[in-house]
Amino acid sequence: MKIGVIGTGYVGLVTAVCLADLGHDVVGTDVVEDKIDKASRGISHIYEPGLEELLKANLKKGNLSFTADLDKAIQSSDVLFVSVNTPQKEDGSADMTFVESVSRTIADNLNDYKVVVEKSTVPVKTSMWIKKTITSCKKKDVDFDVASNPEFLREGSAVSDFLNPDRIIIGVETDKARDILVKIYEKFKDRILVTNIDTAEIIKHASNSYLALKISYINLIAELCEKTDADVNQVAKGMGFDPRIGSQFLKAGLGYGGSCFPKDIRALTKIGEDLGVNMNLLREADRVNLDRIDFFVEKTKKALWILKDKKVAVLGLAFKPETDDIREASSIKIIKRLLDEGSYLRLYDPRAMENMRKIFPEEPPQISYVKSPYEAVKEANALLIITEWDEFKELDLKKIKEVMDNPIIIDGRNVYDPSEVRELGFEYYSIGRQ
Ligand code: NAD
Ligand code: UGA
Repeated sequence: MKIGVIGTGYVGLVTAVCLADLGHDVVGTDVVEDKIDKASRGISHIYEPGLEELLKANLKKGNLSFTADLDKAIQSSDVLFVSVNTPQKEDGSADMTFVESVSRTIADNLNDYKVVVEKSTVPVKTSMWIKKTITSCKKKDVDFDVASNPEFLREGSAVSDFLNPDRIIIGVETDKARDILVKIYEKFKDRILVTNIDTAEIIKHASNSYLALKISYINLIAELCEKTDADVNQVAKGMGFDPRIGSQFLKAGLGYGGSCFPKDIRALTKIGEDLGVNMNLLREADRVNLDRIDFFVEKTKKALWILKDKKVAVLGLAFKPETDDIREASSIKIIKRLLDEGSYLRLYDPRAMENMRKIFPEEPPQISYVKSPYEAVKEANALLIITEWDEFKELDLKKIKEVMDNPIIIDGRNVYDPSEVRELGFEYYSIGRQ
């Protein structure tokens, strides 16, 4: 059985490499030739811990390859994992043009029975549209099945998430497709849940929206904590001991970013509203999330009074640690606001500076990218923590205090202990804590 992975972005590249690592014969394909060229040479076009090593190892083993020839990749595969992007449209719904385009290409190249698997996050009923498109466009009278196998990996731990999944969801409408997918994931057979396709599609959107809801909830509680003497980190810890609540995804901060939670919660809201369901619960979670930026900028203003001409060190640009991804990162909105106010920014991130330069090109003295946190804070009037990279937790704060013009830290991710930092002589502001 040969597996084709269509779209080798953050999900597709990990999927291709990990399926090969599980022992399958895999070909990855993408419309962006540079990604294919790099992957073929064992270079990952994204930063994802462990991915490049595994890519190299599986290329060497000989059961993983990449081609920019979509037609060939489709014709030679028995199972096709579709992992193209499904971005947000203006009205909040998911843009399905890439999935539609792939469906047409599959129809053109359908030469034998194939299972077309939705790996991308798609609205419920997408399988019906894929089926309709392929059926109406296929050139040969051959059979196919559509299935849903949503992906739950997180960026930054994608390889280990893929290879140690807590569940594999398989949405199918035929026994043949079910047996093929169950065989692919045989190694995880104790964690497979087989459902119908609508259910599998909704499981993905419902899971992401629930996690987003959890984050907005703790951020709301953080706001409440700030108005009292409570500490949101301790509140989250206390809540998390209850196994019904659980301790994960209760980190208060700058809210959720990334290419998925913001778009997926809006997509599910739109799906529900189009079906006549009141989705205000999700709308509110989205609003709470958007408000985090205002809260943080207000906090910064409270600390500095006037932002114009202030030198601000910004540590952390990626939407979360251990990735170079800046899609929907809080940093982008915060940087825009500070630039509008006339601040001078020195930006640092261990992995995401190259991507950020494409949005905010270097323009000294207004915008400079620096090589280390210590360079960023030199003569700065404030230090902002936007992403909680481990590197920032381990900074020599004494050294930092010596070189800053004003020892002020505004910590959007609660990286430091307030009393320890204040003891060193810093003015310190964080989220949901005094
Ligand atoms: P991405 O933009 O990194 O990758 C998508 C890839 O598809 C790109 O490389 C693009 O060039 C390619 N592509 C687009 N049209 C194509 C076509 N017609 N033929 C071949 N290739 C084509 O996106 P991503 O982050 O990998 O996300 C992909 C999907 O997976 C989305 O639906 C997303 O919601 C979902 N998802 C993402 C994550 C994540 O952590 N990024 C996790 C789970 C699910
Ligand atoms: C998320 C989900 O965790 C994955 O299961 C899912 O597959 C993926 O979306 C997807 O569908 O794309 P990811 O976006 O990579 O993964 O990263 P997360 O670790 O979930 O973080 C998302 C955002 O929430 C980040 O901005 C992070 O800073 C924020 N977050 C997370 C918090 O603010 N608090 C928390 O407690 C946890």
